[in-house]
Amino acid sequence: MKALVFRIFFLLVFFSFGFGCQSKTPDYESIAITITNEAKTNLIHKLNSKIAEGGTEQAVPFCKLNAIGFTNGLGQKHGVSLRRITNKPRNQSNLLSANEEKIFLEVEKLKTYEGVFPNKSITSDDSVIVYIPIPVMGFCLQCHGNSNEIQKSTKQILNQEYPNDKAIGYKVGELRGLFSVKFPR
Ligand code: HEC
Repeated sequence: MKALVFRIFFLLVFFSFGFGCQSKTPDYESIAITITNEAKTNLIHKLNSKIAEGGTEQAVPFCKLNAIGFTNGLGQKHGVSLRRITNKPRNQSNLLSANEEKIFLEVEKLKTYEGVFPNKSITSDDSVIVYIPIPVMGFCLQCHGNSNEIQKSTKQILNQEYPNDKAIGYKVGELRGLFSVKFPR
């Protein structure tokens, strides 16, 4: 009887330690969601205020100058490497790698009936990378939609700043890109 009690006691201690250790592993996906929500809110807020100030003619050069610097800086603040990647880049620096393209296509394919793209995590020895989808919304079409949706003046400034622009012709609900949030381990 005593032996049984000991055994149960041992198992209880073992499991509580086991669970204790588990809960110390960071929840990478929810941290990534928090960081990318901050990025999305800030980017949209900045875009909106620039559009209000001087239209897309001012917002486009502003994005060119600041978007990558902003995501880099936000990543640094949170101790991660934060990037926006896409298969149809406006800025060539955001072009995804062959490996990332596989992930992009997989996320794109797994769109639910309700139109939601899933997140995806890849764990390796030295890092955890969480990919968070960036879907197209109505607001994006004035700079990423088809030629009827993009104003002439916007087109002009886009052609001038991005002669190799691939990021047009999108429809609401399509996958525009992914945030890549890389945590060192
Ligand atoms: C005022 C025009 C404008 C609007 C509106 C706009 N974008 Fe962009 N977008 C840009 C520009 C300019 C860049 C290139 C930034 C750079 O050079 O780093 C860009 C780049 C991006 C990128 C990075 C990949 C790439 O192609 O270089 C993503 C992802 C993106 N936009 C998504 C969106 C989404 C989603 C919306 C709507 C919520 C949106 N954009 C609205 C102008 C716009």
